[in-house]
Amino acid sequence: MNTEIIKIDGNNINKRKIRYGADMIREGHIVAFPTETVYGLGANAFDGEAVRNIFKVKGRPLDNPLIIHLSDLGEIDGLILGRPPGFDLLVEKFWPGPLTLILKRSGLVPHHISAGLDTVAIRIPAHPVALALIKECGFPLAAPSANLSGKPSTTLAEHVYEDLKGKIPLIIDSGPCEVGLESTVLDLTSEKPIILRPGKVTVKDLQPILGDHIMNFPQGNITTVKSPGVKYKHYSPNAPLIIVQGNWEEVCAKIKDLCKESLEQGKKPGILATSQTFKFYTDLGVPVIHLGDRNSPEEMAAVLFDSLRKMDDFPVDIIYGEGLPLEGIGYSIMNRLTKAAHNIIILK
Ligand code: TXA
Ligand code: MG
Repeated sequence: MNTEIIKIDGNNINKRKIRYGADMIREGHIVAFPTETVYGLGANAFDGEAVRNIFKVKGRPLDNPLIIHLSDLGEIDGLILGRPPGFDLLVEKFWPGPLTLILKRSGLVPHHISAGLDTVAIRIPAHPVALALIKECGFPLAAPSANLSGKPSTTLAEHVYEDLKGKIPLIIDSGPCEVGLESTVLDLTSEKPIILRPGKVTVKDLQPILGDHIMNFPQGNITTVKSPGVKYKHYSPNAPLIIVQGNWEEVCAKIKDLCKESLEQGKKPGILATSQTFKFYTDLGVPVIHLGDRNSPEEMAAVLFDSLRKMDDFPVDIIYGEGLPLEGIGYSIMNRLTKAAHNIIILK
């Protein structure tokens, strides 16, 4: 299959191109499209075969449910059973935007989207191209992140092409995704609301609406050193990623030592650095990617997945990365890095 890439400018939307993409989806194809978080892999949520094809193309386990994307709140009617406490205020404040709500689903939501659960994940994305595409389709889009399962999510059309060329007919390219991390997934169906996946919308952002008890689902203890290779990988570059967590000056010294060791063993290491540490690594003569200012997690989130993918392009065979403070969006970034990591070293 030939994979076509068309560019659509979010600030000056070409309606003919939107129609072209919508027609493809209407015919049962899968189309990659931009959202403000990451690129999505969209199909008609009510077309069972197209949705099954999403799982196949990504190599995604069938028990991992998909998010339904809407362009307008009115489209939610019929998909969910009632609006739980907080729903109206959350929607008013965060939609369109990087927040996915888990809600009780109606019988209209196809079984394969919810992977057999009695709940459904829904969001209205904030990207003008995504909104125009969904509106033009006239039906909701089921869309996971447009990456191969296990790989970092895609924040550029080039990433989507790298993972899915020959497997999907069309990629809509609107440049880099602004947020860079997938949406915050908030479960409103359990006794107390809980964040299942942290993202740009954080505990602090949700507290004014949901109260102080809102919290992140425990992610596993990142203060213990992990055994290499024992866990299921997500977001992973090809080369193993080692995260060093602690006071940044000590982290920097430790990464330099580890890097020298790797070089002595004939390996090709690479480093994920921050503005504060970048200059300390230059004398090693190894690839160093600069994520941004440690005090500006938004900046780092936006380039995180691209940086992980770039490491593979150098190529390197081991990656050392710095742990970040577990606050706000920093917590969400560390959630992804922890899942991507082969090992985490905690400096006491
Ligand atoms: O930002 C995003 O959310 C992107 C863009 C394209 O919208 N989409 C995305 O989809 O990240 P995906 O499929 O890669 O991740 C969806 C997450 C998964 O962790 C999935 O398990 C969870 O949402 N999810 C979906 N339906 C669920 C449900 N009914 N209950 C609990 N978790 C659910
Ligand atoms: Mg994903």
